Amino acid sequence: MKRVWAALLLTAAALALVLYSGRQPAETGEETEDLIVVGMSQVGAESDWRVANSESMKAVFTEENGYRLLFEDAKQKPENQFSSIRRFIQQQVDYIVVMPVEESGWDSVLQEASAAGIPVIVVDRKVDVQDETLITARVGADFYAEGMEAVRWMEQTYKDPAQLNIIHIQGTHGSTAQIGRTQALEDGLAAHETWNLLTRMDGDFTRAKTYEAMTAYLESCEPLPQIHVVYCENDNEAFGAIQALEAFGYTCGKDAVAVISFDATREALEYCRQGKISLTVECDPLLGPLVEEVIRDMEAGKAPEKERHVKVRAFRQEDITDALLEGRQY
Ligand code: AHR
Repeated sequence: MKRVWAALLLTAAALALVLYSGRQPAETGEETEDLIVVGMSQVGAESDWRVANSESMKAVFTEENGYRLLFEDAKQKPENQFSSIRRFIQQQVDYIVVMPVEESGWDSVLQEASAAGIPVIVVDRKVDVQDETLITARVGADFYAEGMEAVRWMEQTYKDPAQLNIIHIQGTHGSTAQIGRTQALEDGLAAHETWNLLTRMDGDFTRAKTYEAMTAYLESCEPLPQIHVVYCENDNEAFGAIQALEAFGYTCGKDAVAVISFDATREALEYCRQGKISLTVECDPLLGPLVEEVIRDMEAGKAPEKERHVKVRAFRQEDITDALLEGRQY
């Protein structure tokens, strides 16, 4: 059985129409029967969000649901992702799903996938390619909109400050989550003369790296600075920052250091309820069902929605209820 996808360029907007003509088992060394073979390249396991995202994919793309999932962990290295995609092409998978580490460097490998007739679904972060038709669909968050939630909260919380001292902890450089959340803060800084960036450091979306970076910064300060806001680009960075700040005698919370984070995992919501995180902005990792909808659409011969965003919500201490915590799946 052989399946061939042909993408017809219908309009200048490049709407792809996908046709079905049978399915060929991918060359995985095992019998795949009529399973739909999905080659998936995940960033790594750097954060609680990422682990939840992988679990969501694995829960959906099961044999019971009609899929054979070839899951590869890129260990945060773009070059590992490019090798995975080339392996998936050789294996003649039916779909490639990629959560990109960084936005850049994708043109050649996605041209190869396109030449092999394999649809590519981009999940979570984006890829920056010249030819947008190389991507069938993208499912993920609007990271700039998330950052603007935090900036608006800062505007409302600190009306006319004499000076607002901010520490910015960035995520993995070149990833869409870093680019969007950083841009929002940059715009906030440009719009408010009294917002003062004390320092910017690299946390790589991890607790350990942030703890080390924050500790090294505070060790270098004599005297210790007054800090109003620590803008962390994910929850794990916030956990590491709080640990380091507390070790240096700072208090995190109301009328003290306000820590902002992104993701809103259950642990971050717990921190928020305790008052240690002042604002956590949700980024939903449970994207497996949305990715499956894209594949179902294509299996039905329908052109999928090109870009699908998940909702943005922000939580403060007063928003955290028992029901919210109990219902949190990640
Ligand atoms: O790309 C999404 C970001 O990546 C999440 O905010 C972060 O936790 C993850 O590692």
